[in-house]
Amino acid sequence: MSKLSLSKEKIKVVLLEGVHPLAEESFRKDGYNNITYLKGTPEKEELKTLLSDAHILGIRSRTHITQDVLDACDKLMAIGTFCIGTNQINLEYARNKGIPVFNAPFSNTRSVAELVLAEIIFLMRGIPQKNAAAHRGQWQKTAESSFEIRGKKLGIVGFGHIGSQLGVIAESLGMKVYFYDIENKLPMGNAKNTESLNELLAKVDVLSLHVPSTAATKDMIGKQQLDKMRQGSYLINAARGDVVVIEDLIDALDSGKIKGAALDVFPQEPSSNNDPFISQLKEYDQVIITPHIGGSTLEAQVNIANEVSNKLMKYSNNGTTSSAVNFPQVSLPEIAGKQSRVMHIHKNKPGMLEQVNRIFSKHDMNITALHLQTEGEIGYVIMDVDCNEVDDLKTELKSIDGTLRVRVLHGS
Ligand code: NAI
Repeated sequence: MSKLSLSKEKIKVVLLEGVHPLAEESFRKDGYNNITYLKGTPEKEELKTLLSDAHILGIRSRTHITQDVLDACDKLMAIGTFCIGTNQINLEYARNKGIPVFNAPFSNTRSVAELVLAEIIFLMRGIPQKNAAAHRGQWQKTAESSFEIRGKKLGIVGFGHIGSQLGVIAESLGMKVYFYDIENKLPMGNAKNTESLNELLAKVDVLSLHVPSTAATKDMIGKQQLDKMRQGSYLINAARGDVVVIEDLIDALDSGKIKGAALDVFPQEPSSNNDPFISQLKEYDQVIITPHIGGSTLEAQVNIANEVSNKLMKYSNNGTTSSAVNFPQVSLPEIAGKQSRVMHIHKNKPGMLEQVNRIFSKHDMNITALHLQTEGEIGYVIMDVDCNEVDDLKTELKSIDGTLRVRVLHGS
């Protein structure tokens, strides 16, 4: 346990966009009571006023934290996005103001893996087309082109959090799992890796994509790759919309090379539920189309609320920045007994640590632990000292040229 130099009751937490109520509950349980919880997000000027005295901010994807908003937040200490993406925030500017940003990149791993597993079964049974036909009054009772997944070969491109979890659950239903990843990944279960993407394409009955959107994965599956796949195989993309060339997939569906597909992500997605979904794929009964909901489950929302609020509280309570997306990452132990923890966030330039050290020596303080991490233009140094009287030291540290922020926590 640690005591904050600014007591928890005084730390203003602002939670916007109706983040899961568990987030507010977690803060309150930990002693943070100065919480503003809003269902929506205010207009920019109102947002600036609301955040002018806030210390911790939680948002989802619709609140844009731009440079001028950040400039209006003098006290802001940390931001959490209760979602996966962080591009609604000017991350670099936040970093250069000493504000770490946290998100929840892996809270919905299981949700995506489960959806994909269901899609494999549906595609191999021809359910999308039979379902569509039944809705039009046609009864397609036949076993033709209808297969069990047991014993079939699943190919996974990108064996990260989602890919590897999918592999494990698909294997438990009797599938043979193969994967391709640019990194050396340890196989899980009996999954086997392939030397190349081409080898994987030629081997499997169903191909499922779980790579991030990068220059190397853009248009990763186009005509050339689809041609290499087995006749009558299936394709699933729940990764990112730019990984598959849609026109080439349509040609492969037309020729029967690809018997069915499931897509959760698209090159152009409607920006809201009120905008229409425009895609030629709508004409294809054998394609399962879902509106980018692979990770959208209530369980994932709960995981996100827990993960992000814990990261924010951990930073506030003991300075830990592990998994911050824009900040030097440091994982810190609890503050022991009568010690204090002094955290100095500064511009990453030569001589900073020396100046910090000089001030500690001047105050004759015994440093029991020191952590330093730099990223880009900023440095984060944390020192534990055997002393509770650090007010003068704090003032002097603040006066070092290039200091962005100084925080002090006390052990209890
Ligand atoms: P991860 O980072 O754990 O795994 C990605 C894997 O892809 C890594 O193992 C990486 O080495 C590999 N990889 C990267 N570039 C590659 C390349 N060129 N060729 C082969 N492998 C490559 O990510 P995670 O959590 O498994 O997510 C995977 C994808 O799923 C991401 O694009 C993410 O945005 C997407 N996603 C989609 C959701 C949805 O709602 N449909 C929800 C959550 C994630």
